[in-house]
Amino acid sequence: MAPPMSAVSFQSISKNYQTPKGVFQALNNVSLDIEEGEFFGLLGPNGAGKTTLISILAGLSRASSGRVLVQGSDVQADYADARRKLGIVPQELVFDPFFSVREALRFQSGYFGVKDNDAWIDELLESLGLADKANANMRQLSGGMKRRVLVAQALVHRPPIIVLDEPTAGVDVELRQTLWHFIAKLNRQGHTVLLTTHYLEEAEALCNRVAMLKQGQIVKLSSMSDLLKSASSNVLQFKTDAALPPALAQRARVTGRIVQIPAQDAGDVEALLAGLRQGGVVPEDVEIRRADLEDVFIHVMNEQAQVAEAGA
Ligand SMILES: Nc1ncnc2c1ncn2[C@@H]1O[C@H](COP(=O)(O)OP(=O)(O)O)[C@@H](O)[C@H]1O
Ligand SMILES: [Mg+2]
Repeated sequence: MAPPMSAVSFQSISKNYQTPKGVFQALNNVSLDIEEGEFFGLLGPNGAGKTTLISILAGLSRASSGRVLVQGSDVQADYADARRKLGIVPQELVFDPFFSVREALRFQSGYFGVKDNDAWIDELLESLGLADKANANMRQLSGGMKRRVLVAQALVHRPPIIVLDEPTAGVDVELRQTLWHFIAKLNRQGHTVLLTTHYLEEAEALCNRVAMLKQGQIVKLSSMSDLLKSASSNVLQFKTDAALPPALAQRARVTGRIVQIPAQDAGDVEALLAGLRQGGVVPEDVEIRRADLEDVFIHVMNEQAQVAEAGA
């Protein structure tokens, strides 16, 4: 029996960009298989190469080396086959300003050769909270509404694999809820989902497996549950205006006045508080919370920086 076919198989993908300063390597030998039915998260800071990888998957950009298969179809050699299996929601808001919402969706259906698609288009409009905007012109829509149309557009041909590139960057809470409710339902119905995001809360709630990308390389690939288990179990959080003692500053994540430091257990928390007292820092609004994906992410990214420094 043949092994089960991956939904998406990235095989040794590298991508070099020519820039005025010379060659820039955006992806360095990325190999990754996403299985049928997964809700997969591709995480990484800005500039890590997420959109570049998605563009190669979409056939919009060509890898410098390596290949991508979509349910066995090569995105270069069997472009039409591969493309039909994918519903891609791009990071950039691109659309034709002269179409109404319904016209845009009919046009996209035609592009995939899908006829008489209005029943499904209506269902998409309903599910995405767009029903009352069907006849609105694209250029009249707010950014959040345009984002919903892009999602509907990606799904008009009922693709088995749904790819979303930072779909909630800069959108309101209501859209996030609508969108995740809908995408999670499609995933339960059997669609494979590939999501890139730097909103880690979102990934934690939705994804069952994640890859972390940093400077064009995969630095972590793990199930969500293993990743969360590998985290320090707790985080000490407080507010202060004072500078932290250097030993603590190294371990801390600081956002404005808010300081967060990983801690294994109660003894560790006590040691941290003693360290603050010795450094003359009086913490306010002290809380202890469980570690989340963001804590793991920061840890993995720092670990990699230290490895890189040690190798230099
Ligand atoms: N067309 C291009 N020419 C040159 N460099 C590019 C181009 N597109 C992206 N890059 C660079 O490649 C890196 C990865 O970009 P991108 O894939 O957009 O990252 P992400 O989506 O993870 O934020 C960045 O450093 C970016 O500046
Ligand atoms: Mg991007």
